[in-house]
Amino acid sequence: MGKVYAAFRSIGAYVPQKVLTNADFEKMVDTSDEWIVKRTGIKERHIADKDEATSDMAAKAAKIAIERAGLDIEDIDLVVLATVTPDYFNMPSTACLVSEKLGIKNVQAFDISAACSGFVYALSVAKAFIESGMKQNVLVIGAEKFSSIVDYTDRTTCVLFGDGAGAAVIGATKNKEEGFLDIHASADGTYWDFLITPSPGSVNPASCEAIEQGLQYVKMKGNETFKLAVKTLTKDVKEILKKNNLEAGDIPHFVPHQANYRIIKAVGDSLGMRDDQVVLTVHKYGNTSAASIPMAINDIYEEGRLKSGEMMLLDTFGGGLTWASALIPFAPAK
Ligand code: ACO
Repeated sequence: MGKVYAAFRSIGAYVPQKVLTNADFEKMVDTSDEWIVKRTGIKERHIADKDEATSDMAAKAAKIAIERAGLDIEDIDLVVLATVTPDYFNMPSTACLVSEKLGIKNVQAFDISAACSGFVYALSVAKAFIESGMKQNVLVIGAEKFSSIVDYTDRTTCVLFGDGAGAAVIGATKNKEEGFLDIHASADGTYWDFLITPSPGSVNPASCEAIEQGLQYVKMKGNETFKLAVKTLTKDVKEILKKNNLEAGDIPHFVPHQANYRIIKAVGDSLGMRDDQVVLTVHKYGNTSAASIPMAINDIYEEGRLKSGEMMLLDTFGGGLTWASALIPFAPAK
């Protein structure tokens, strides 16, 4: 049997209907449209309904991705779902719930926790399973209901995040040209407290005291995270390009994690990227964590900008701290 490669077959996304604009936040906390746009580039973000769970959004995105891959539900043999806002904090995994919602049986399914880097981490898992011959068609999902862990009285975090889901089907191919070119995922736990939801968990199990202290909400050392993100991503992206003998100008689609326009601009500028190469969605979705990269890929796909064979450069940074980059051609099944 010859070597098998992992091919990025299809993309799908789901964006909840409700929109929170910067003007809405001006009525909720001491902030302004001017501050939010200038410091983050965000104009609005979508928020899930009260009864809409992470798995509901994930299942909708996944259904589209499976259809676009031209596959049947039963063709999926692995579901890897990246999230830090699962339906239930301990069990069952959101991947299991999505499998149930889609009617996928006899499947291996599990979640990945790598915050905003989760989708690219999940792609690296899909690649390993496919290249080892263990699986044929992997459903990779990034889905977040960040609104469920945001404190809407804390102006330093509440304006940043949104909800949504994106999904991709990664399939086995013998055609090397279709396969992932490279993927690189890293972590440094030294900075574990830069982004954290302190409760519930084994350190702070659910309790009235924990809730009174607001430990269920996301806390972020924003400015420190910002500086590390720019430095780390610039280095990481330069390395993956160099390793693969590519120049930034060779890449049609640079798809960075959408946390802050200033981070994207700083990394893009240091690579010498033109504006038309850089995919931007942060203004309309905010930071959707693990969902941000697949939602952005889906946008360029639906706009007709993502063509078969075109290379995507993904890069991301998030809680953990974690970061990752990847060079992946879009390889829809013919
Ligand atoms: N409106 C008005 N003023 C605000 C707001 C707001 N919404 N938020 C903060 N401020 C104030 C602060 O209180 C501070 O005031 P002070 O100077 O009086 O103390 C001032 O603005 C500056 O605050 P900074 O935190 O220094 O602002 P900064 O320019 O760093 O922007 C931001 C903050 C947007 C959070 C930025 O640091 C950032 O984007 N950080 C990185 C986020 C990121 O990439 N996270 C990783 C991925 S997320 C994940 O993994 C889930």
